[in-house]
Amino acid sequence: MGIDNARLRRRYELRLKKILVVGIVIGVVGGILPSIIVGKVRSSIQKKKYETEITSLTKEKEKLTKEAKAKKETVEAANLSVEKLSSEDSDWSLVLVNESHPLDTGYTPEVAAITEGQFVDARIQEETAKMLEDAAAEGLNMYVVSAYRDYETQRGVFNTTMVDWINQGYSPLDAYDETKKSVAVPGTSEHATGLALDIVSSTYDALDEQQAETAEAKWLAENCWKYGFILRYPVSKSDVTGIVFEPWHYRYVGKDVAKEIMEQNITLEEYLEQ
Ligand code: DAL
Ligand code: ZN
Repeated sequence: MGIDNARLRRRYELRLKKILVVGIVIGVVGGILPSIIVGKVRSSIQKKKYETEITSLTKEKEKLTKEAKAKKETVEAANLSVEKLSSEDSDWSLVLVNESHPLDTGYTPEVAAITEGQFVDARIQEETAKMLEDAAAEGLNMYVVSAYRDYETQRGVFNTTMVDWINQGYSPLDAYDETKKSVAVPGTSEHATGLALDIVSSTYDALDEQQAETAEAKWLAENCWKYGFILRYPVSKSDVTGIVFEPWHYRYVGKDVAKEIMEQNITLEEYLEQ
């Protein structure tokens, strides 16, 4: 009987130990495992969040770098135009000023009067005057509507034209796009160089395509190169120049280049690319 009791107690103690061990194991597994899993899930969500943030920050950085580069290039191009215009060699007359080739807004050429209230770069005054005199001697009646325009004047022309489009029902954004097809955005007009002139017939002075049909415009288109001028925005070339056909806008480039450009029926952009 004493032996049976001792065996029973051992068995009981053994079972108790087993229960204790199982209890500990369940406690450990049940308590730690979920927190490990939750921790893992949390850190993976956190990782994804960081990755997304890093991607968007990288994109933002790339965008800002691109913008800074474009700004730097614009300033460099504007300075380069001034350098070219101010150079002693004949390169000054070949300066390219257009939407992608701005001119420093502070550039002021040395000007000379060509007609009352109209001025050109002093270096082209003689040839401009000769062209106008020769045309008059042929019995033609033309006059200079606009020649040198500083930045502020160009801004005025641009704004007035834009308001006209808005008054015709265009949204400001569409009016802006429409305006820059015929008026250069301030800072990108070659009128600011003093090398460009708008010349119209006295009998038809509208700045539209019909101007091309006047005897004056025809004479200019045919003879301008002899005086170093080109028709700067020819018909069907707006995809190259960014500007509509302007049969009144003449630009001085020097006689040799003017001859080549007018003979080949190309633009200054195309000539400079050759
Ligand atoms: N009309 C020409 C493009 C200018 O504004 O310079
Ligand atoms: Zn013009």
